[in-house]
Formats: sequence, C-alpha cells, structure tokens
Amino acid sequence: PEAARELAAGATSLDALRAMLERFDGCGLKLRATNLVFADGNPEAEIMLVGEAPGREEDLQGKPFVGRSGQLLDRMLKAIGLDRTKVYIANTVPWRPPGNRTPSPAEVAVCLPFLYRQIELVAPKVLVALGGASASTLFETDTGITRLRGQWRELTVGNHTMRAVATLHPAYLLRQPAAKKLAWQDLLAIQAALRG
Ligand code: URA
Repeated sequence: PEAARELAAGATSLDALRAMLERFDGCGLKLRATNLVFADGNPEAEIMLVGEAPGREEDLQGKPFVGRSGQLLDRMLKAIGLDRTKVYIANTVPWRPPGNRTPSPAEVAVCLPFLYRQIELVAPKVLVALGGASASTLFETDTGITRLRGQWRELTVGNHTMRAVATLHPAYLLRQPAAKKLAWQDLLAIQAALRG
C-alpha cells in the first residue's frame, strides 16, 4: 500500500491514473481479470458512486455496473433524474475477484490509494457508497450497512471534503425487493443533497 500510495499521488489526471493502473502489478486480482474496470460516467459529475467490485459482465466490458445490478442502478438513478452523463461510477477495487467473492482486506488496501486519488480528481459534491463493503472501506467502520445506510457524514479525502452517504447495493435489492423502499428514501436524500 505504501508504494501504491506514492504512485497514485503522482497521477495528475484521471487518464494518468487509469494508465498507471493498467501498468500496476501490486494487486493479485489483476492476474485473473480480463479487463481493468476503471470507471464510467462523467468526470465532471457532482456525484460519485462507489460499488464493491466488478462482476462478470463488468470484467468482460471493462465498465462498472453493466450487468443486472447496473441495470437496476440505472433505474434508481433515473428515478431522481440522473443518468451516466451526470454521475461518475467506480468500485473499491478495479478488477473482478474470482467467482465474485468479496475482495480481501489486503486487495482493498492495495487498491485504496488509487480510489482515493480518483475521488480527489473527480472532487464530487456528493459521494455514495453502494453496499456494505464500499461503505466500510470509505467510512472506515465495522458498522453494518443496515445501520449505516442513510446516515450522512462529511468525508475528507486528501484536500477535498464532500457530503457522503451509504445506501443498499443494487445486487442486494435484487435479492430483497422489499428493501427498495429504504433505498428510495436514500435516493430522495441524495437528490436533496445535490440541490442543497
Ligand atoms: N457490483 C459492483 O459492486 N460493482 C460493479 O461494477 C458491478 C456489480
């Protein structure tokens, strides 16, 4: 993580950061992944969403949230007037973990400097952690997602401070449709934060 931190700090643009990750060999996930899944959306966006890790479709296409979860995410965004031209989307790790397992703490730790640098370069007004893995990484907490979601906080990454919140992961909502009403509350609060 120390070497990764120094490396990431040297990237002065998102393109440079992406190129750096293409060459970076410090994360074992890269060995079995097809593509780097760096980000999608608008780097000028006021809102950045951070998921957990690429899945199969994402790995094949090199883009985050393009599978079933991504389709639900697009519908969630549309419900508050957003689409991929108005948001920026990344993941805690940019390579697919084999079999879609949760990335290990070591894998997350080595990739984290790159995510932090990405957040700094996008400098969104609002940051949304999608799901428990992303939330516990970004908010440095062991609190579970059911208690964490909807709780707004200020998050500082480098020299950028933003409003931040966690919500339920779309993959979870696909399994637990009844929880969509909670996600809807979070979406309305996100919409208000973007206006405020
Ligand atoms: N789930 C995630 O957390 N991220 C993706 O990019 C796709 C599915």
